[in-house]
Amino acid sequence: MCGIVGYVGSKNAPTILVDGLSHLEYRGYDSAGIVFYENNKFNIIKTEGRISNLRDAIPFESPSKVGVGHTRWATHGVPNQVNSHPHKQGKITLVHNGIIENYTGLKKELGNYTFNSETDSEVACALIDKLYNELGNMEEVLEKVPSMLKGSYALGIVVDDEPNKIYAIRHKSPLIIGVGDNENFIASDVPAILNKTKRYILLDDFDVVILSDEIKIKRNGNFIEPIIKEFDWEVDQTSLNGFDHYMLKEIYEQPDVVRRTIESFDTNEFPEFTSYEKIEIVACGSAYHAGLIGLHLIENYTNIEVSIHVASEYRYKKHNFNRKTLVIIISQSGETADSLETVRIAKENNIDTLGIVNVYGSSIARDVKYLIYSKAGCEISVATTKAYLSQITIMGLIASKIAKLDKVDSEHLIKTIVSVIEKREIYDNIANSIYTKEHLFFIGRGIDYYLGLEGSLKLKEISYIHSEAYPAGELKHGTISLVTPGTPFIAIVTDESIAEKTISNIKEVKARGARVILLIREDLFEKGDYYDEVILIPRLDDIYQPLATVIPLQLIAYETAKKRNCDIDKPRNLAKSVTVE
Ligand code: F6R
Repeated sequence: MCGIVGYVGSKNAPTILVDGLSHLEYRGYDSAGIVFYENNKFNIIKTEGRISNLRDAIPFESPSKVGVGHTRWATHGVPNQVNSHPHKQGKITLVHNGIIENYTGLKKELGNYTFNSETDSEVACALIDKLYNELGNMEEVLEKVPSMLKGSYALGIVVDDEPNKIYAIRHKSPLIIGVGDNENFIASDVPAILNKTKRYILLDDFDVVILSDEIKIKRNGNFIEPIIKEFDWEVDQTSLNGFDHYMLKEIYEQPDVVRRTIESFDTNEFPEFTSYEKIEIVACGSAYHAGLIGLHLIENYTNIEVSIHVASEYRYKKHNFNRKTLVIIISQSGETADSLETVRIAKENNIDTLGIVNVYGSSIARDVKYLIYSKAGCEISVATTKAYLSQITIMGLIASKIAKLDKVDSEHLIKTIVSVIEKREIYDNIANSIYTKEHLFFIGRGIDYYLGLEGSLKLKEISYIHSEAYPAGELKHGTISLVTPGTPFIAIVTDESIAEKTISNIKEVKARGARVILLIREDLFEKGDYYDEVILIPRLDDIYQPLATVIPLQLIAYETAKKRNCDIDKPRNLAKSVTVE
């Protein structure tokens, strides 16, 4: 979703802004723009499409030392140059991430202004200009803004009268301050500034930020002494390091991620799980799929009642909380609007929350009662891989902690994961057999079905092949009518307790002409005529088996998308962090 970066310092602002924006590309965007102070005025440059277009349009040499940049992911109005940010009204130029829910009403009230774009953001810009004309002081304006703007926003603002300053404010949309040496930044996300500084300040909702050569933050009407923290992410996490794509690089990082996740799993920080009668897991997308693995494991290894919910549904459903409910929220970004709302709902009902979050200092990480950081590091590819793997590792660790199981043999686990990644040639061959198809099915039972859902999502989002994951036993209740000669099926068989049943279902589709790619735990494999291609998955402890099983699915999706010449790291229409409903 939209990304913001702002700069005040002594270097060439346009170049720094565009560099920062290029590190936010992964969030998803369709246009980009900057505003910078040069020749005694604020200049705006905006371009549709990729950051490279913006880079070509900015001045190569610029004396400008102050500016704000933005990548836009269209919500109100089509992606084009006019709708892209920054927007200017009167003396105010701003960039916005989020959604202004009351912009239609405000637009009517701001009848004196002429609006060029279809965006809600330009309305916020006009409102701030109007307030500035009335109050003559930006601090006061920004203190008033929260009572007038409804929705979510992170705003980076410059004012014609104050060319050496950036103002900023946030509500429900991410924004941090980067603290450099004689230079300061605002940014939506860590990668935008990671190659400039590792020191950062987290902002609370409605903090008023005044950034110049010093940093001033006003909270509830008083200036505060900000707490400066330090990122533990490395700069090389935001570069390709010789890989063709971030997705591939991140798949290769998975053994390290699993090691870090296991090593940092500190049981002292947790709630006493057995004191809860009910666990509700809530998440979106792949994080939801990781939650399904958690559901399966906690159900199987403990006696605690567990349910799972898609966050966008959970926020509007009726809740039967009792005091002994724990809500677990899983989120890579920690900013997903629906998941964040889940935290609010639980807190409002005095229900304990446990967040499993990857991004340090993100909103969910800050709002939950208990927190486990997944140790994936900075994930750039829109399609998550290493964060998902870290999440399912944590699910396994939680289940084994509750069930008081022996410690995992992490060396064996990691070696196995490495060996699965290394079988690239096999995945490439499978991709050869499916990349021209337009439809595909994943089938499995129990945990294998849950892994199929993740495999299907990966394939859809990066290769644009339509796929569906089905519980293998459910096919004959309708979907099997879609099987014609050659229809590809990826069948997953790793759960020994139900393997025979799944194999019967595989035979049913094979008998109708399906082309079956069998992903099977090696010790369960028997040769036969019920498959066309086979991938053998090394056996692991049941709790950690999904870690080895999902990797072929990630790599099949990757190789398939590559053969279809898709933009793997930035799939169409998708954003890395979904900060709007
Ligand atoms: C899929 C993917 C998404 C996210 C989902 C939740 O590859 O990345 O489905 O898993 O948008 O995002 P987070 O985990 O940031 O809450």
